[in-house]
Amino acid sequence: MDAITKAKKAAGDKAAALVQPGMLVGLGTGSTAYWAIERIGQMVKEGLNIRAVATSIASEKQAMALGIPITSFSEIQQLDLDIDGADEISEEGQLIKGGGGSLLREKIVALASRHRVIVGDERKYVRTLGKFPLPVEVVPFGWELVFKTLQALQGHPTLRTRDDKPYITDNSNYIIDCSFGVIREPELLHQQLKTLTGVVETGLFLNLKPTVIIAYENGDVKTI
Ligand code: 5RP
Repeated sequence: MDAITKAKKAAGDKAAALVQPGMLVGLGTGSTAYWAIERIGQMVKEGLNIRAVATSIASEKQAMALGIPITSFSEIQQLDLDIDGADEISEEGQLIKGGGGSLLREKIVALASRHRVIVGDERKYVRTLGKFPLPVEVVPFGWELVFKTLQALQGHPTLRTRDDKPYITDNSNYIIDCSFGVIREPELLHQQLKTLTGVVETGLFLNLKPTVIIAYENGDVKTI
């Protein structure tokens, strides 16, 4: 295991340790949240009684294979704890998410959780958001119009693709990745983008006051 993978695992393990018996837990998506889910799976095998909602089909499959009981918002109203990764984490705890394409479900789960834990390696921790392209989930119909508006807003948009076809999210939408440069006013940008008809969600996760667990390549793990 390389140093970055070790760091991701360390962050995931530390977050999983916050899961208590009886909790309803949000399971994030991505290569860091993966390790938290693995650890929670072990804890369930050892007798931990929890139920979970996953933020992607991939994480749900992983959880089910590990025997983690899965529930949904048809059965519950609120989660106790959400553990997820991020693409950028600012010093104020503001986030860019959606590099893995699951931003919409991730935001629904984050907003439905009483506590949020964000896990990441040291490369994710930044002074100001904006280096990582900002994912914007859009409905496929008329995406070209949203794309042109994003161009006019200086977002330097790119339609996310896979195998030369538009990338399709778990919600059957497209993702347009944008580069607005340093994002000095994330709330304003988020509001501006959300008001565009056809935009479903942005990857700006703001004012969620997460507990942030950062793992370093030298083996340190810090909770912020
Ligand atoms: C998926 C996400 C992920 O949490 C984010 O992309 C971080 O992933 P990783 O831990 O693999 O770097 O937002 O939509």
